[in-house]
Amino acid sequence: MMRQVDIITLAFGLTIHTAVVAAAACNQSLLREATDRYIAAQSTGNITWLQPLLSDNATYLENGKTVADWRLANSTTLTAAPLRIDRSHSIYDLTQCAFFTDLIANTDTAAPRVIGAQVGMDTNLGRVTKIDRIVTTPGDWLFNATGTLYYALREDWGEIPASRRDSRETIKAAADAYLDVFKNASVPVPWGSPCARLEGGACTGRGLPTDSCDVGVIQSYDMPNRRYVIDETVGVVSVLLEFGSIGNAPDSHEFRVEGGKLRYIHTMTYCEKKPNCGYSMGPTGPASAS
Ligand SMILES: *[C@@H]1O[C@H](CO)[C@@H](O)[C@H](O)[C@H]1NC(C)=O
Ligand SMILES: *[C@@H]1O[C@H](CO)[C@@H](O)[C@H](O)[C@H]1NC(C)=O
Ligand SMILES: *[C@@H]1O[C@H](CO)[C@@H](O)[C@H](O)[C@H]1NC(C)=O
Ligand SMILES: *[C@@H]1O[C@H](CO)[C@@H](O)[C@H](O)[C@H]1NC(C)=O
Ligand SMILES: *[C@@H]1O[C@H](CO)[C@@H](O)[C@H](O)[C@H]1NC(C)=O
Ligand SMILES: *[C@@H]1O[C@H](CO)[C@@H](O)[C@H](O)[C@H]1NC(C)=O
Repeated sequence: MMRQVDIITLAFGLTIHTAVVAAAACNQSLLREATDRYIAAQSTGNITWLQPLLSDNATYLENGKTVADWRLANSTTLTAAPLRIDRSHSIYDLTQCAFFTDLIANTDTAAPRVIGAQVGMDTNLGRVTKIDRIVTTPGDWLFNATGTLYYALREDWGEIPASRRDSRETIKAAADAYLDVFKNASVPVPWGSPCARLEGGACTGRGLPTDSCDVGVIQSYDMPNRRYVIDETVGVVSVLLEFGSIGNAPDSHEFRVEGGKLRYIHTMTYCEKKPNCGYSMGPTGPASAS
């Protein structure tokens, strides 16, 4: 219920061991253990925490690019440096045997991070086979880790009672409609009310019942290369994609859907070396290229 406010410390109660994992179907406890190990590896910068559940040939993508030597201690990835995790939030997809975790880290330092990771596991071996991460830092789209933390902690992304849950298809369709409207303004989007968009650390919501997510998008562009992780128990879908309207920037969109309608949208967009992806304004203002 309180997953969204889990404050992660190093006290996971995990031990690093090398026991062989028996072949079995995917389950919640396997995904939760993998999540805890992923977070432990990130917070220590030490891959050893993940090792017991890691496939030998696991692939790793960071901001859309495959990194071959990501396990090495000198790699600029998961293992680059320890991060103090201020908040983590995870969803679990038993159908695909995958999870999505977003991390807000180092908020009080000069090197804050907001990171979204889709992690895929092999159902037969129970091993992590793919890590696909968007890693954002100062200079990325509306980046403000303090703001992200502030707003994320005020929202309820908790479990939805079984009788009121949407199907995977409904949750995915709501996300796709939102992403499709960037290309085609006529696509009907199931806007919920209230609804808030948290882009980087900037929020469109004011905490009012009239808050709307229908505050405009930059048209008209495709949002290609969508990868999904869906958790019906919380009505959430994570979509990693290429953000067409800002130069196919590597991007993470996470949607909270209730009763088939969009309630919260969180984004992380990697801008490479262009501050704020070359735009001078945020999601609600006239986002003009500089
Ligand atoms: C979950 O899956 C793991 C790995 O496949 C297996 O070892 C474990 O026994 C399973 N747990 C449950 C509760 O089914
Ligand atoms: C990672 O953790 C393991 C187990 O605690 C330890 O043996 C190893 O020295 C650590 N590696 C680094 C680079 O700190
Ligand atoms: C990883 O290795 C396993 C067996 O060792 C193999 O079945 C699988 O296809 C490999 N995956 C990739 C992506 O190479
Ligand atoms: C990391 O070190 C290995 C050798 O230990 C080297 O081959 C590789 O090029 C280094 N990578 C980076 C990013 O420096
Ligand atoms: C970042 O967000 C915090 C919390 O909302 C806010 O107080 C601060 O002014 C923001 N910083 C910038 C540079 O916008
Ligand atoms: C735009 O969306 C509308 C509503 O779904 C649809 O009828 C129309 O065919 C779409 N236009 C294009 C060019 O895809």
